[in-house]
Amino acid sequence: MESSDHISLTFSDGEAMHFPPLDGQSILTSAEKAGNVLASNCREGTCRTCMARDANGNEVLLCITPAQPGMALNLPYQRTDVTPPSLRRAKINAFSRVSRSVWEIRYRLQFPLPFLPGQYVEVHFPGMDAPRRFSMANPPSLKEQVLHVRDLPGGAMSTYLNERAKPDDAFTVRGPFGVFYLRSTARPKLFVAGGTGLAPIISMLLSSIDAATTPPLAVIAGFADAEDAYALEALLALAETLPLEVVLAADRAGGAWKGFVGNPVAALNEVRTIPLDAGTEAYLCGPPAMVNAARGALLARNLQATAIFNEEFVHSS
Ligand SMILES: Cc1cc2nc3c(=O)[nH]c(=O)nc-3n(C[C@H](O)[C@H](O)[C@H](O)COP(=O)(O)OP(=O)(O)OC[C@H]3O[C@@H](n4cnc5c(N)ncnc54)[C@H](O)[C@@H]3O)c2cc1C
Ligand code: FES
Repeated sequence: MESSDHISLTFSDGEAMHFPPLDGQSILTSAEKAGNVLASNCREGTCRTCMARDANGNEVLLCITPAQPGMALNLPYQRTDVTPPSLRRAKINAFSRVSRSVWEIRYRLQFPLPFLPGQYVEVHFPGMDAPRRFSMANPPSLKEQVLHVRDLPGGAMSTYLNERAKPDDAFTVRGPFGVFYLRSTARPKLFVAGGTGLAPIISMLLSSIDAATTPPLAVIAGFADAEDAYALEALLALAETLPLEVVLAADRAGGAWKGFVGNPVAALNEVRTIPLDAGTEAYLCGPPAMVNAARGALLARNLQATAIFNEEFVHSS
């Protein structure tokens, strides 16, 4: 029941939940102790999965913010879209470098793991100290799952892929996590990716299979260097079947590069087919600095704060 001593959380469809703050506990723990299920993962303020916003639009991480009476926050998702994560065994089918700085890993699961296009999993590969978070790049309908992994020289994933990984390696997958998933609205949709931030966006685009009902779409795929660019054929194939404009952007590029030269935020000016205004929905994914800059640029063009969805690829192991 609503009370000024309680905390109020409002989901994106207007549904509200009210629960008492527990002394010395976070908002997330207080909500859960009252029997509520909310989106979360790390519970230590790094993955940003539990992010809510206050009335001024400021971010509040529910897992590390102490619960106080009278708090009122908005959640960027619907209650029904949160499912508890499951653990699955998996085996690698194949892996390869798809550009100078990106690996693709394809794997099979012992049992299906339903997810919403755009969500992520925690994968724990052999010999690694801790799981890593990666977004699925495949549509939920595909049995084989696909990850796009940024190559960080010296990083645990790069070392595994360069030195030890082989087909049929067994590992574990836990998920799904995250609230960066495709909303089924009729609004034009803009997708802005930096590097492997393209993975969940490809999952969303591959899930938009019905060209007759899909609203106009535009994707900006940004790369630090033209040599990092990948998935170009997949994007161009999608543009053949969907009402999709593809803008490729590289900060650095030689003469052979046919796309825009500059970062994905500067490339917003290149979008021709959808209006960048209050009627459009945006999905931003990649390095935190890029996501924040794109969000600021889109708010300045009057996109509604509640129609901009982000996933920041923070390092959090
Ligand atoms: C919700 C979520 C979804 C993600 N999805 C993806 C995805 O689909 N594809 C993908 O490539 N990444 C994704 N990431 C980021 C990915 O989980 C981390 O970058 C990954 O754990 C790095 O692991 P590593 O073993 O390569 O490097 P580590 O061995 O963990 O680190 C090696 C070195 O690189 C630095 N480092 C690690 N990650 C980053 C980073 N992101 N930026 C800058 N420096 C870093 C570390 O500080 C360290 O110095 C996601 C992150 C989150 C939170
Ligand atoms: S669950 Fe709160 S930041 Fe990860």
